[in-house]
Amino acid sequence: MQKPDSNDINVKTPPEADPTFGDHLSLGAGRALRGVSHGGLGSAHGKAILMGEHSVVYGAPAVALPLLDLQTAASVRTSASATITSDLYTGHISKAPRQLKPVITALRATADHVGLNIESCEVVISSTIPLERGLGSSAAVSAAMVRAVSNAAGVTLSAEETFNLVQIAENVAHGTSSGLDAHAVRSLTPVRFQKGNPTDVEVAKPLTFVIADTGTSGSTSAAVNGVRMLREQTPRYVDSIIESLADLAESSIEALGTGDENKLGTHMYEGQEQLVRLGVSAPALDALIEAAHKGDALGAKLTGSGLGGCVLALAKDQDHASALIEDFTEAGATRGWKTSLVPSDLADEYDQETGLEALFDNQENA
Ligand code: PMV
Repeated sequence: MQKPDSNDINVKTPPEADPTFGDHLSLGAGRALRGVSHGGLGSAHGKAILMGEHSVVYGAPAVALPLLDLQTAASVRTSASATITSDLYTGHISKAPRQLKPVITALRATADHVGLNIESCEVVISSTIPLERGLGSSAAVSAAMVRAVSNAAGVTLSAEETFNLVQIAENVAHGTSSGLDAHAVRSLTPVRFQKGNPTDVEVAKPLTFVIADTGTSGSTSAAVNGVRMLREQTPRYVDSIIESLADLAESSIEALGTGDENKLGTHMYEGQEQLVRLGVSAPALDALIEAAHKGDALGAKLTGSGLGGCVLALAKDQDHASALIEDFTEAGATRGWKTSLVPSDLADEYDQETGLEALFDNQENA
């Protein structure tokens, strides 16, 4: 951790800048933030698990894709009282609902880590990642908060420090978590994750995925606990599923690397079958998988912990992705997104500051 020469944030100081700033933060809303002093900003993006949810908890490899179109931003700045502004809740931090406990944990843990007094600060969270849909919302909000607080303190955290702080919040959110989400919401490339170790995954050609939302939420801790109990009762049955999911994850990584979308899609359908056997699918998810088959999707599976949430499908191209979104809507999906995976040789172009981080630099340099 690189500490600044002096830590000039004292959150007990009343705000010096635009007092309406908290009402104006939204993604890319640069003007409203310009000129705010003694604040910090952070952002992170959503993720979808391509293969290996649940099995990753037992040491098997998993692959997650970045969802760069779904973003979360967090800001923290000095204020007379401790408040939080978000879509979910606006008010005093001490009265925030349980869903905000992880992000408040991230705020406190990071403040402790960087030696900041956060007794009194204004926190604003803005996110386009839907809550409790297996798309990494909780990890992304926590990662954005860790960045915002360290940014406010003028401290550059290492990747490991950031990961550890996000994990503290993730463990509050989900019980013991594998750490996959904490890595995936900060990675610009697909990531292979096993036993705490993330590695970048090569992508040979552009791929178009669709995410369809059942409109129902799945509780990660309930799903993870359900699998754990099933494994206690029938260890050999569950271990054979974990083994199959591990093989599918490795083979999916190969398919991404060779650009074999037919193989990848087939693996997605096979992965779904294993997740059904684990008991983490749900009727609303099954209906969308059936729609994917009928709509000729190359592959489809639930993504995230299951029991609700979203389906991830592989389309043949952009037009097919649009058609699939219509099919999913007819089959009960409440909304759908297209997301593209860029080949690794083009991914570097994406490796640039987000609007918000660039904005913060402008503010610092002003
Ligand atoms: O539903 P999500 O996005 O929180 O994903 C959970 C993934 C699991 O493998 C089920 C749990 C974990 O800790 O990896």
